[in-house]
Amino acid sequence: MRSSEIREKFLSFFTEKGHTIIPSASLLPENDPTVLFTTAGMHPLVPYLMGEKHPGGTRLANAQKCIRTGDIDEVGDNRHLTFFEMLGNWSLGDYFKEDAIRWSFEFLSSKKWLGIDPHRLSVSVFTGDADAPKDTESIRIWKTAFKGVGIDAKEGDRIFMYPKAKNWWGPAGQTGPCGPDTEMFYDTGKTHAPAYGKKCHINCDCGRYVEIWNDVFMQYEKMADGSYVPLTQRNVDTGLGLERVAMVLQGVESVFETDMFAPLFKAMGTLTNQDDRRAKRIIADHLRAATFILADGVMPSNVDQGYVLRRLIRRAMREGRKVGIEAFGWTSAIVETIIATMWESYPELNIHRQHIGNEMKQEEEKFTKALDKGLREFDKIARDAKVRNLQTVAIKDVFDLYQSFGFPIEITKELAQEKGLGIDEEGFMQELAKHQDISRKGAEQKFAGGLADHREETTQLHTATHLLHKALRNVLGDHVEQKGSNITAERLRFDFTHAAKMTDAEKRRVEDMVNWVIRDDLPVTFEEMTVDQAKQAGAIGLFEHKYGEKVKVYTVGGFSKEICGGPHVTHTGELGVFKIKKEEASSAGIRRIKAVLLDKDV
Ligand code: SER
Repeated sequence: MRSSEIREKFLSFFTEKGHTIIPSASLLPENDPTVLFTTAGMHPLVPYLMGEKHPGGTRLANAQKCIRTGDIDEVGDNRHLTFFEMLGNWSLGDYFKEDAIRWSFEFLSSKKWLGIDPHRLSVSVFTGDADAPKDTESIRIWKTAFKGVGIDAKEGDRIFMYPKAKNWWGPAGQTGPCGPDTEMFYDTGKTHAPAYGKKCHINCDCGRYVEIWNDVFMQYEKMADGSYVPLTQRNVDTGLGLERVAMVLQGVESVFETDMFAPLFKAMGTLTNQDDRRAKRIIADHLRAATFILADGVMPSNVDQGYVLRRLIRRAMREGRKVGIEAFGWTSAIVETIIATMWESYPELNIHRQHIGNEMKQEEEKFTKALDKGLREFDKIARDAKVRNLQTVAIKDVFDLYQSFGFPIEITKELAQEKGLGIDEEGFMQELAKHQDISRKGAEQKFAGGLADHREETTQLHTATHLLHKALRNVLGDHVEQKGSNITAERLRFDFTHAAKMTDAEKRRVEDMVNWVIRDDLPVTFEEMTVDQAKQAGAIGLFEHKYGEKVKVYTVGGFSKEICGGPHVTHTGELGVFKIKKEEASSAGIRRIKAVLLDKDV
């Protein structure tokens, strides 16, 4: 079954079950400064999962393009990708576990739909803890579903229990809707690699079991005090990985052997005879991600999404060099193939074809010379390290490769690994932070007159939002949590938890506090750290990242520390004068502030 057929079947199945099909949202999250990319189908739907009415009704489904860079080091194995499509169905306070699980099972196993042999399916369910009980309801529904096809599923046999770390999703922020999930796994029947211990299990990393679908049951709200309170609007959020299901149905060993990737490998075959499987997989994945990011209007740069894009293209180029692909313009040739394979489902690829091709060529041109020189420079560095018997590449050298040759950290890390050397990533990040002022200015110049006309204004308002958030907590109390943020070139809008209307005196105190911080001209800096380190450092903000994932924490002098993707100004003095224009109720228990920045002389 071709992947386009799987996509169509999914959407027709859920249309039959009364769902409205909605389009894929952009890869660039709207109104959400905390993440760079849309990471799951539910991401653009958060307001509706929180209770806002969706024009499509209470049953929705779609195919959503997603980017997750957290697994970038895993790309090259049989199933990890930075760009993937997630097929999803949602219930906004409509059906719940019974229908969600029954339908997942029907779609996967029924001959009319995907027709997967149910003997190859296993599931995981939330085991229960002090916050929420064991999900016995899901266990019961799974047992019935399997019984329907003559399989006697039991706990410990086809149904496996796991704690929160595996079988829980959300909340999107520190507080909000969340709940247990149940995941479906396909048994490839491969022999378990002994390296992973004696006992193979469905969440084991040996590659025998492939997670294909996740049904999340949002039935709790996590409160500011850390407790979990049952929700009145109970939602379902599911995500089925298209590439993985295609791999299973097409009976191939990896997502890269599916029909979506085959033309790419064929195109690469015309460019090189060498056969480094991992390198070619990285090229295929990274250029696919880059194509889609470009189609959504991002250009290569040194900050945020633009920098992720640049890293993906440059890493693909270096992998290309590894397998002997040299012909200038080769990345845009592969990109042409990607567009030809995908444009029918994603017409934006065709619409922006010219732009995508041009940007690829320009980036390739920019980096080709630097790559050659940088590789020679690295050889010198590595030889020197060997002579001096060093285990790691000096931070100064890693930074030089970054600054003078445009080597993203991943490239240097891999080059070092190939020579048996390590690099100090944290040290590099610190060094980078020291140089932020310079590189940010450079990046801003690149943007001038380009994509983001109002970049300066929105960046300033973004920093002002952090100051407002912290000032509200200082004035009103720590119960204040961000519930939403929206920035235009003219104003910021900030939703936060607080029960009462703010008094005039409170508003004035908040304004004064923000304006003191602006007048003090405090430096704005950031560091990358894990979510846990960020929590320990006392950072506020939305903790929606997965365990172990690195996040950026922005610090404004001694005043505020917040998890955020940026961008921000470098000094608060750039902000002018902060003024609250409006304070009003947004929904029960949530207030909304609209505020502006005025020129100093006004
Ligand atoms: N949000 C869940 C996931 O990404 C289900 O869609 O797995």
